[in-house]
Amino acid sequence: MGGFPLPLLALVLAAWPAWPAGGDPDTPAHVDGAPPAKIAVVGAGIGGSATAHFLRQHFGPEVQVDVFEKGEVGGRLATMTVNHNDYESGGSIIHSLNLHMQEFVKQLGLKYRRNVAGKTAIFNGKDVILEETDWYLLDLFRLWWRYGISFIRLQMWVEEIMEKFMRIYKYQAHGYAFSSVEELLDSLGGSGFINMTRRPLSDSLLELGVSQRFIDEVIAPVMRINYGQNVSIPAFVGAVSLAGAQNNLWAVEGGNKLVCSGLLKMANANLLQAHVSSISPVSSGEALQYQLNYTTTEGNGSEVYDIVVLATPLQASVEPGLHFQGFSPPFDQPPGHYHSTIATIVHGYLNTSFFGFPDPRLFPFASVLTTDAPSLFFNSVASVCPVNISAGFRRKQPQEAGVYKVFSPQLLEKPQLKTLFRSYYSVQVTEWQAYPHYGSNQRLPPVELQPNLYYLNGIEWAGSAMEMSSVAAKNIALLAYHRWNRQTDMLDQRDLMHRIKTEL
Ligand SMILES: *[C@@H]1O[C@H](CO)[C@@H](O)[C@H](O)[C@H]1NC(C)=O
Ligand SMILES: *[C@@H]1O[C@H](CO)[C@@H](O)[C@H](O)[C@H]1NC(C)=O
Ligand SMILES: *[C@@H]1O[C@H](CO)[C@@H](O)[C@H](O)[C@H]1NC(C)=O
Ligand SMILES: *[C@@H]1O[C@H](CO)[C@@H](O)[C@H](O)[C@H]1NC(C)=O
Ligand SMILES: *[C@@H]1O[C@H](CO)[C@@H](O)[C@H](O)[C@H]1NC(C)=O
Ligand SMILES: *[C@@H]1O[C@H](CO)[C@@H](O)[C@H](O)[C@H]1NC(C)=O
Repeated sequence: MGGFPLPLLALVLAAWPAWPAGGDPDTPAHVDGAPPAKIAVVGAGIGGSATAHFLRQHFGPEVQVDVFEKGEVGGRLATMTVNHNDYESGGSIIHSLNLHMQEFVKQLGLKYRRNVAGKTAIFNGKDVILEETDWYLLDLFRLWWRYGISFIRLQMWVEEIMEKFMRIYKYQAHGYAFSSVEELLDSLGGSGFINMTRRPLSDSLLELGVSQRFIDEVIAPVMRINYGQNVSIPAFVGAVSLAGAQNNLWAVEGGNKLVCSGLLKMANANLLQAHVSSISPVSSGEALQYQLNYTTTEGNGSEVYDIVVLATPLQASVEPGLHFQGFSPPFDQPPGHYHSTIATIVHGYLNTSFFGFPDPRLFPFASVLTTDAPSLFFNSVASVCPVNISAGFRRKQPQEAGVYKVFSPQLLEKPQLKTLFRSYYSVQVTEWQAYPHYGSNQRLPPVELQPNLYYLNGIEWAGSAMEMSSVAAKNIALLAYHRWNRQTDMLDQRDLMHRIKTEL
């Protein structure tokens, strides 16, 4: 699918360094003059690490930034070792227009991982119904022949949405922040964007004039590999992932999680390997602070913070042990649950007969996406490349033993593995609470839970992607900074496109 207008990208990149680290030097201090002494971030995935980094940028070198992580730094960005190589087992691809991620990689001195070409097919349980060729134009002709105008309509729709979405980088570069996901979306794409978080993708596409066949055969497989769900997911998250279905994706050499550990180091944050068990408000005079109680392997601890950012999904299915104590009115876990997706990494021989290719040497595909066919027990299977790719690396041929990643809604049973693979050396399984289980008409969770208490992962209900978390991280850092300094003129401003033009 197509690219984005380059001039826009260049413009945004050029605007990037315009905002000095630490914010505007003329900024008035907190009303009582004191900057915050201690800030806590709960969660060290991409959202939490990026928040720590941006908080440091805006609040300066003095504030103590503690980051709590009960598992591994990186969260849903994780790797797994197979046969002496590491492979991404969670979030694996980064959209080319993720300007925050690009900036992180640059600042951290990390490298882009080389892209090893491989073709994609779409399988309906019986036949391969669509296959990628070597020649992009030929693909366009095939799509045109099979789906008519659908493809072009879809491409224009996605580009228009992404172009509007890209405004966020300008707003953020000028220091503007939003107190809710709705305000943020509204500033980018008006009520149309908010409506897109509430209506099914399939409705939006049908209304555009995209054919049902195209939805079933192209859109559904992309939603299945990206979100493990069908085309009833909201249109906004659908559009985000269709933008990500383009060719220009990238990953980080050595593993995407290196961005998280790098950001924490660059932010000079204290990493606490601890599970936060409770959070409770404490008032000392005028100021409202928060006490976090936590458990480490050495025992329990307790600490009081001026500002707290929760950068982990608060749903009980993900964070069963985090209790909100002493809030009035009582604070409840947000509704909904996370969608469980199983990532199975198999080292073995793919059974290409299953896809109608009895001779594996004639099987030309590296990835197989699937339609929403009831008989299928998996969402996708793909030959994967290690996180470190040496100069002489080549992808394994289907007649050789290779490393494959299978996404499925349930654990694969032995007979299923034996259907998909002729034989295998090893099988490793990760069960992810991967992304929200989307329903239409879902309200987006709040960003500001209480004064100086923020929640990052609500953004995932608009769209779950590294890009979205990075944008939310920057927004929360700016929001916390402006709230602390009572700069309400930087919050929830309308007509920002116009304002920014006149500011320049
Ligand atoms: C979004 O939905 C609201 C309420 O249904 C409607 O008034 C508004 O016109 C819609 N916006 C767009 C751009 O379609
Ligand atoms: C999509 O999945 C949901 C359950 O997650 C189901 O209720 C809905 O009917 C499905 N929609 C389609 C179009 O298959
Ligand atoms: C993989 O790449 C990372 C980042 O470039 C590097 O730090 C690491 O040493 C590499 N590992 C191997 C085994 O080459
Ligand atoms: C947190 O720990 C402190 C000190 O150990 C204790 O006094 C307080 O009751 C604890 N709070 C909660 C909500 O458990
Ligand atoms: C640590 O805190 C938990 C509650 O979060 C409590 O159940 C446990 O008894 C405490 N352990 C110690 C050693 O105080
Ligand atoms: C491979 O797939 C074919 C076709 O579905 C099936 O008949 C066969 O049992 C599978 N397993 C092996 C080991 O070939």
